[in-house]
Amino acid sequence: MISKSESKVQKYIKPVRGMKDLIPEKVIIWNIIEKILKNILNSYGYHEIRIPVVEYTNLFKRAIGESTDVIEKETYSFNDRNGRDLTLRPEGTAGCVRASIEHRLLYHHNPRLWYIGPMFRNERPQKGRYRQFHQLGCEVFGDYGPYIDVEILMLNMRWWKALGITKQLRLEINSIGSLKNRINYVNHLVKYLTFYKKKLDKKYHQRIANNPLRLFESKDPYLKEILRNAPTINNYLDKSHVNHFSQVCVLLDKLNISYHINYHLLRGLDYYNNTVFEWKTDKLGTQDAVCSGGRYDYLVEILGGERKPGIGFAVGLERLVALVESVNARYKNSTLNFADIYLINQGTQTVSRLLKLAELIRDGVPEVKVLVDYNNSYKKQLKYARKLSARIVIEINDNVSDDYKGDNLLVNNLKSGKKLSIKWDEVIPYLIKLFHN
Ligand code: HAM
Repeated sequence: MISKSESKVQKYIKPVRGMKDLIPEKVIIWNIIEKILKNILNSYGYHEIRIPVVEYTNLFKRAIGESTDVIEKETYSFNDRNGRDLTLRPEGTAGCVRASIEHRLLYHHNPRLWYIGPMFRNERPQKGRYRQFHQLGCEVFGDYGPYIDVEILMLNMRWWKALGITKQLRLEINSIGSLKNRINYVNHLVKYLTFYKKKLDKKYHQRIANNPLRLFESKDPYLKEILRNAPTINNYLDKSHVNHFSQVCVLLDKLNISYHINYHLLRGLDYYNNTVFEWKTDKLGTQDAVCSGGRYDYLVEILGGERKPGIGFAVGLERLVALVESVNARYKNSTLNFADIYLINQGTQTVSRLLKLAELIRDGVPEVKVLVDYNNSYKKQLKYARKLSARIVIEINDNVSDDYKGDNLLVNNLKSGKKLSIKWDEVIPYLIKLFHN
């Protein structure tokens, strides 16, 4: 019996703000795009790795840096029932490096890895910025570059070309040198900013003291104006990093890859050094970075492994899909294929035979979608088959023998309008011919 509380209409529970559902029509588009990306990754020798969504909070603190926005303000951290301090991953590089150390993937060869999945950042949601979003990330280990730096940019270019969005993306690159170079640069930057401190909003004072590099990510026009004349990192790089960066630029020129050097591109995660880059677009509003990455030659060591250089990037899938949809209507208008073959019952006596027929078809022509209607009236079933855009409707005549073999099947081709009656054992050859042509 249904209890009183069960019978009450319950209040609808909304999803968490900044966390979106992907309905089946959207998933189709995501799958098409993901398949293109994965095929190209395969051709560059990358392998998939699956890493947990939850890690110890310390992993992210150590890898990303305690005074970054991500760690200070954006992580979803909690204590589990055993009091462990855990965090929903805000990005995939830290977990990927941890897993590579854990399973000693780094010491037999130089792995090329990719991962895909949800990331979580408690940012203020807006168009293109979500609290749960998805990344496809790649990490390459064991190569100091500069050739690999350029190869991964070529891989990105191949992605954009395959998705028809090359013209909508521009590459910004920079070198942020070594940690030592950065400390020296920060000292000079702070000196410069101290001069303007009184004129600056108080909320920036703490930032100047903690992590002034992050100020370059601000959209505040007044702050931007002040930073326009601030010292730039390129003047604080040592010789080896200057050389590395100029080699990257020479290679990009040779390969006809357009790029824009942005000395203010410093990236929001502390593990980077040397080459950093972002692919940006004008098509998506303020959240314009579609894919970002760079080198992290010290991260393996910082996370307790033996020294191994690394470089990687991650593409934000919500932004990538939005960009692809905005330029390519073919993706936006994709519709669901609900059924290829629709099996219609003529009363409950035929349903068990339809179940058997559906299985037979799934054995013989596994790539087609077969649905059986168990519920509707005969008229409604035909209407429904049309609504689902089924190509073929099959019904079983009722005057049949018990072993099914004698049944006549009435096949109705909704696309051509042709109808024919065939025997049970003729149905598979008929469907193979129809669907394989
Ligand atoms: P990231 O720049 O923080 O880098 O994120 C990479 C991409 O994820 C961004 O370019 C953007 O497209 C997307 N993204 C970031 N936050 C959001 C958000 N709140 N909503 C929607 N999309 C977002 C990393 O995460 C590094 N782990 C990339 C990397 C891999 N570097 C080296 N290896």
